[in-house]
Amino acid sequence: MNNLFNANLAEVDPIVAEAIDNETRRQSGGLELIASENFVSEAVLQAMGSVFTNKYAEGYPKKRYYGGCEFADVVEQLAIDRAKEIFGAEHANVQPHSGAQANMSVFLAALQHGDKILGMNLSHGGHLTHGHPMNFSGINFEVSDYGVSKETEQIDYDALQAKAEETRPKMIICGASAYPRTIDFARIGEIARSVGASIMADIAHIAGMVAAGLHPSPVPHCEFVTTTTHKTLRGPRGGLILCREEFSKAVDKAVFPGVQGGPLVHIISAKAVAFGEALREDFKAYQQQILDNAQALANELTANGLRLVSGGTDNHLMLIDVFDGGKGITGKVAEKVLDEVHITVNKNTIPFDTNSPFVASGIRIGTPALTTRGMKEDEMRQIARLIASVIREPESEDVKSRVKREVAELTARFPLYAHRLSADGKTDALSAG
Ligand SMILES: Cc1ncc(COP(=O)(O)O)c(C=O)c1O
Repeated sequence: MNNLFNANLAEVDPIVAEAIDNETRRQSGGLELIASENFVSEAVLQAMGSVFTNKYAEGYPKKRYYGGCEFADVVEQLAIDRAKEIFGAEHANVQPHSGAQANMSVFLAALQHGDKILGMNLSHGGHLTHGHPMNFSGINFEVSDYGVSKETEQIDYDALQAKAEETRPKMIICGASAYPRTIDFARIGEIARSVGASIMADIAHIAGMVAAGLHPSPVPHCEFVTTTTHKTLRGPRGGLILCREEFSKAVDKAVFPGVQGGPLVHIISAKAVAFGEALREDFKAYQQQILDNAQALANELTANGLRLVSGGTDNHLMLIDVFDGGKGITGKVAEKVLDEVHITVNKNTIPFDTNSPFVASGIRIGTPALTTRGMKEDEMRQIARLIASVIREPESEDVKSRVKREVAELTARFPLYAHRLSADGKTDALSAG
């Protein structure tokens, strides 16, 4: 073993260490409004960075293909038990490396190549893995899609029923990446049963609220439920599958050996920690604050003249139609100018968008990350006014410098990962950019 083995990262690889330091400063010095992002706890970070990264543990607890798995079994079993408890599910598989791989595993467990699936249109809020032609889901299955009504910009359940009757899919996929309204899983359950389809509900975005009982759960209505663990659930990057006991063997076989090799035991241990956090009483208060913050943000954006898709939000996210039929700016420009003032959002198509996905008419924003920092309704209203002023005058340097100042004041009042910053503070991603 050479003598660098026990040295600090900064000594071994200063370039990577500096990039991490800069990223820590970027996260703490900006307003993170990307709806799919969050800040994990120190405990989750510590679990992710453990020696479990060294361990091969192919198989499942007590049924491994490798020796030395007794402690891997402890953390994986804990993650499974906690996931089942959180969601009231009969079976949980905590091994998917990501949300996409969780979905791929369910397809492998429940479908044959070429089967018909019915998924939500990407530009109406769905996800690539729900049947997009460039994704494995669109390549391997015969896809039809459903979406929102033009008038309400909310899911048109009658049209979904009609489409299901017309296409007779083997599986209906519900859940979304950019849908600001409550999803009626009970109604989708009725539709699926009426045509003999099964359901995969992908609750990647709303999992935290489902866990806290603040969004209706799909578990009683759907054969399969998938999620990422890193969005509102506030765990490490990863995936999770929940299903009924009757599908447990098929799902486990699909994840391993079907789609993946060795599980990421360090990540699974961090999932266990995050699930433990989600079982605590204060997690419910956190999820409620996410919702209250979203309401405050949405109302103030609207009061400042911005149009929200579907007129508002029921959950943690909203879509601002910044293009407004050509009267405003594109999502691409909005993302860029907001980035310049350290407000991080992503451009997003809106339903019936006339712009391409690379340009887009909207931006998607959400409150989970800023709520983790401790911000509340007052800060949301201030942030809404900042966003509105930049979008109204994207070229004004005066507006940008005022907003930048206010962002700096706000972020300083709600510190994040301060103990993780290098003491010398030599690097500063914000002033560099
Ligand atoms: C609804 C939904 N499903 C799946 C995914 C994919 O998750 P991952 O990026 O972990 O593969 C996402 C990610 O944004 C998502 O929003």
